[in-house]
Amino acid sequence: MTKPTIPKTMHALQAIKFGSPEESLKYNEIKTPEVAHPADILVKVKAAGVNQAEAKGRAGNFPGPKNPPLVFGGDYSGIIVDKGAKVTGFNIGDAVYGSLKMPIGPNGSYAEYVLASQDSGAIVSKPDHLSFEEAGSVGVALCTAYQAITGMGNLPKEGTKKILVLGASGGVGTFAVQYAKTIPDTQVVGICSDKNAELVRSIGADRVVDYTSKEAMDALVKDEAETYDLIVDCVGGDDYYNRLVNTLKKEGTFSTTVGPIMHIGAEKIGLTGWLSMGATILGRKLFGARNYQMVLSFPWDKFSTEIAPLLADGKIKTVLKDSQLFDLKDGVQAHKKLESHRSVGKVVLRI
Ligand SMILES: NC(=O)c1ccc[n+]([C@@H]2O[C@H](COP(=O)([O-])OP(=O)(O)OC[C@H]3O[C@@H](n4cnc5c(N)ncnc54)[C@H](OP(=O)(O)O)[C@@H]3O)[C@@H](O)[C@H]2O)c1
Repeated sequence: MTKPTIPKTMHALQAIKFGSPEESLKYNEIKTPEVAHPADILVKVKAAGVNQAEAKGRAGNFPGPKNPPLVFGGDYSGIIVDKGAKVTGFNIGDAVYGSLKMPIGPNGSYAEYVLASQDSGAIVSKPDHLSFEEAGSVGVALCTAYQAITGMGNLPKEGTKKILVLGASGGVGTFAVQYAKTIPDTQVVGICSDKNAELVRSIGADRVVDYTSKEAMDALVKDEAETYDLIVDCVGGDDYYNRLVNTLKKEGTFSTTVGPIMHIGAEKIGLTGWLSMGATILGRKLFGARNYQMVLSFPWDKFSTEIAPLLADGKIKTVLKDSQLFDLKDGVQAHKKLESHRSVGKVVLRI
């Protein structure tokens, strides 16, 4: 296919300053990125998943993003419109999806065009049976779930494995439940509120426990002491850790995507907060009752070989609700939805 005409400018959701979604996110016209390096791939974006890291970065609560204006967004799907000389296996016109190495700008996927690279992050061909919205919201959340389970879960090789997923209805949690069920001989219990119980069962959880029910949580702690091999924590905070750590077997692992502060980054915590969090993590790692791990990196090298095939084979599906699909120009609403901490599955921008 010949290279299509690429406009010099494009629409993007720009974070013009750190702050609330309304203060920060503006639907602006900016320069379209161009292929500059041999491994670059320019994608006309069809959908971009929205992740908590972007909302926290936009709010100015996460170290990393600097000097607005910035275009946030890591996950994307779309059509290749240009590529560098060293790109192999992809052609102009191909439908692809993937994730940039960093979702915090400056040139992210909340835009009509995004510059990906075959040398960093992840990019794979999109199977026809996956919609652009499904494919475009996979990267960060599924990689996080994969890393929390396979990268650091230390699961036994033989026998039945019991996994507890905290926050099973969210973006990472819905992938964690499904990914855990792809591992042979696995029993998965999802912690979610009653309103999301049916959904969490429908994606494969063998059982759910309603975290809003004191009786149900007390029964979990009492009846299932030292029975779990792995807890995948997608909520964070001390409360879950303190209540549930003893439901792990002695050699079990508490694998957190968040750490000791619930929804870390939803509020500003300052230098003292970060230092105290670091000290708590170190304390749990060195002196905690069980193995303690925190997801701090992404398995991009496994994306094309181990992660994308699970979607291609239909073993894992993106959980998408119509009410969580937003047009790019309505990105403020998408960030507000995510910041409510009540979204189910993924929040997606359509472009
Ligand atoms: N370490 C990393 O590299 C990494 C990568 C990705 C994400 N993360 C972090 O992982 C966390 C989860 O991300 P996400 O995208 O899954 O978030 P999310 O989609 O916003 O999670 C929303 C879900 O969490 C549930 N929830 C909220 N409070 C809960 C509680 N106390 N107990 C159980 N469930 C609760 C909500 O269900 P209800 O409405 O029923 O409460 C909702 O369905 C975020 O803090 C994110 O920053 C870390």
